[in-house]
Amino acid sequence: MKKIILSTLAALALSSTAYADVIKVGVVGPFSGPFALQGKNFKAGIDAYMALNGNKVGNDTVEIIYRDVPAADPAQSKALGQELIVKEKVQYLAGFYFTPDAMAVTPILKQGNVPMVVMNAATSAIMNTSPFVVRTSFTTWQTSTPIAKVAFDAGVKKVITVVSDYGPGVDAENAFKAGFTKAGGEVVQAIRMPLSTNDFSPIMQRIKDSGAQGVFAFLPSGPTTLGFVKAYNDNGLKASGVKFFAPGDLTQESDLPALGDAALGIQTSFHYAVSHDSPENKKFTEAAIKAIGNKAELSFPAVGAYDGMHVIYKMIEATGGKQDAQKAVDAVKGLSWVSPRGPVSIDPESRHITQNIYLREVAKAADGTYINKEVQTFEKQGDPGLAAAK
Ligand code: PHB
Repeated sequence: MKKIILSTLAALALSSTAYADVIKVGVVGPFSGPFALQGKNFKAGIDAYMALNGNKVGNDTVEIIYRDVPAADPAQSKALGQELIVKEKVQYLAGFYFTPDAMAVTPILKQGNVPMVVMNAATSAIMNTSPFVVRTSFTTWQTSTPIAKVAFDAGVKKVITVVSDYGPGVDAENAFKAGFTKAGGEVVQAIRMPLSTNDFSPIMQRIKDSGAQGVFAFLPSGPTTLGFVKAYNDNGLKASGVKFFAPGDLTQESDLPALGDAALGIQTSFHYAVSHDSPENKKFTEAAIKAIGNKAELSFPAVGAYDGMHVIYKMIEATGGKQDAQKAVDAVKGLSWVSPRGPVSIDPESRHITQNIYLREVAKAADGTYINKEVQTFEKQGDPGLAAAK
């Protein structure tokens, strides 16, 4: 009798392992080099989601495979995307900090039968390059449109725009200009800098010489955003009364200690602040801080990754773990949930995330740390850049 029970148990164990699959998710991001902290935030968001929700969807086990693309490097991103699909047989691709790295991989999604969940890259046009892309981050059109009105309402009528010369920078420039001129303001000059620019003194001189009352800036978050805001403070622009406006990439929380009191009062607009006051964000930040190991390092890519995992889990659920990119993507069109950033949904047409955009001000919290304090909410913002990107 004992023998029969044992062999039945063994057979059961065998059959359950036979039906349970490992579902691989390939995550591409900057995990080394100057932007490593941004990749570390991807991982913290993913770890937080899996710590709170487990690593299983039904009987299937989710396994994350990381690949490092330290900078905007489309050739390397494409090679790694191919390797993940062909050799590792991932069912999902995710991550993608820089727009060119995402754009290099979207053309192979259809053939690979693999959806891509963009956890950061923020150029509107990415969505038009493949029907298998879903995005849980933001676009620079989405984040830069509200701040244009804020700048005009603050009495600033002449602005100079300064952006990194690539997808999200050009989008940010166009978004700000559209909103600011519609309000009645004038963009007196538009500077586009190479992505590699890290000496900002000549730019600060051009801002001074332009006679603008304010500057609007976009650079991808990382060492250069810190350098840019420092240069604005150190070159006397702030002291001379030139007002600073930007999306929140320029004041990510991990940069604030290095900027210090000089950053106090800077206004930015963005989809997420680590200090966002909600039960969902409390739960998220506790888990993400545990994952990243240091509260001061937590920043916005973590929330894009956390929500990206939510979308992937829903896709796995809807397909019963089978590889079917179309079915997976269709299943999350219109999906809505409460993110740590606030209420969100996946727009069924664009597959981009609809969300609140917050106006924030750099402030000191009661415990002496610097935060992006939310002061105004622009509810349920879609992506105004989609029409422009078509
Ligand atoms: C992008 O390359 O799309 C990108 C990177 C960093 C940001 C925003 C956009 O902060």
